[in-house]
Amino acid sequence: MRIGVFCSGGDAPGMNACVRSVVRGATSAGHEVVGINRGYQGLVDENLFLDSLGEAKMSARSVSNIIQRGGTILRSARCQAFQTEAGMQKAVETLEKFKIDGLIAIGGNGTFRGLNELVERWDGRVIGVPGTIDNDLVGTDYTIGFSTAVQTAVDAIDKLRDTAESHERLFLVEVMGRHSGYLALYTALAAGAEVACIPETPTDIPGMVDHLHSLQQTGKKSIIVVVAEGDELGGALILQDKLQKAKCSFALRTVILGHVQRGGSPTPDDRILATRLGDFAVRSISEGATAMMAGEINHECVLSPIKDSFSKRKELPKEMIDLLDRMSK
Ligand code: F6P
Repeated sequence: MRIGVFCSGGDAPGMNACVRSVVRGATSAGHEVVGINRGYQGLVDENLFLDSLGEAKMSARSVSNIIQRGGTILRSARCQAFQTEAGMQKAVETLEKFKIDGLIAIGGNGTFRGLNELVERWDGRVIGVPGTIDNDLVGTDYTIGFSTAVQTAVDAIDKLRDTAESHERLFLVEVMGRHSGYLALYTALAAGAEVACIPETPTDIPGMVDHLHSLQQTGKKSIIVVVAEGDELGGALILQDKLQKAKCSFALRTVILGHVQRGGSPTPDDRILATRLGDFAVRSISEGATAMMAGEINHECVLSPIKDSFSKRKELPKEMIDLLDRMSK
């Protein structure tokens, strides 16, 4: 087979490890691999990864020394052109011109929505691999990049806790997650935060102020509130304003971590997940699977319909929400 591979949407630490795994898994099984730069945009623009001889193919050596690197050597993009019929047709023409018969896309729900469109217009096989820091995809326990993003946020909060404690302050720390509180909740649990404000549960400002006041009365000197950017009341700056107006008894500061969470060297967990799923995607596509996402559930590699990844909502485990509640007393 000739297998195309690209990364699309927001980049995630571990995407490089996954590209490496796709290339090495495929070439060791005798397949050829074509790298596509900048996701769907590269298909629209015929922007392919060229090897040292200027050929549009990836070899085992093209992916040396990248397992530890954040970002993606194939680069990523959010492609407007692919949202038009003309753009999609151009992408299909590129796939046909370069005789690609299977495509592996590493990305999140927008990427998989695109794959679903491609399936309607192209005869080749497609498999998605979940690469996003958000961990918001049905069909996998964890997405590639989530572990590293939590680690990055926890490292930052450990530092903020020092200064919060010295000054007896409350820090609102905004993490990414437009529609999902996974990143915020797991960060809050790992960092020992007192509160997580997430889109999945209502954020009750008067209730929070009372809770913080009672913590202060029992001797708490510092407070960390982790805020998902997609919290239904708004991001951390809006919450800071609301807490101030509700006469929160702590001095408040806000830190927005933003894209810092998307960079950096992937954790071993992300490298291993990426390596397993990239190789599994290659084996699945060569055995005839298509329109599926390769995920890991209960430590097993599994395929699930690509449509599920963007049409179903991944629920946050309630036990984790309750656990944070008990730990924040
Ligand atoms: O989907 C991944 C993600 O990092 C979200 O958490 C965040 O809301 C979004 O991408 C930011 O996108 P951009 O990099 O295009 O601003």
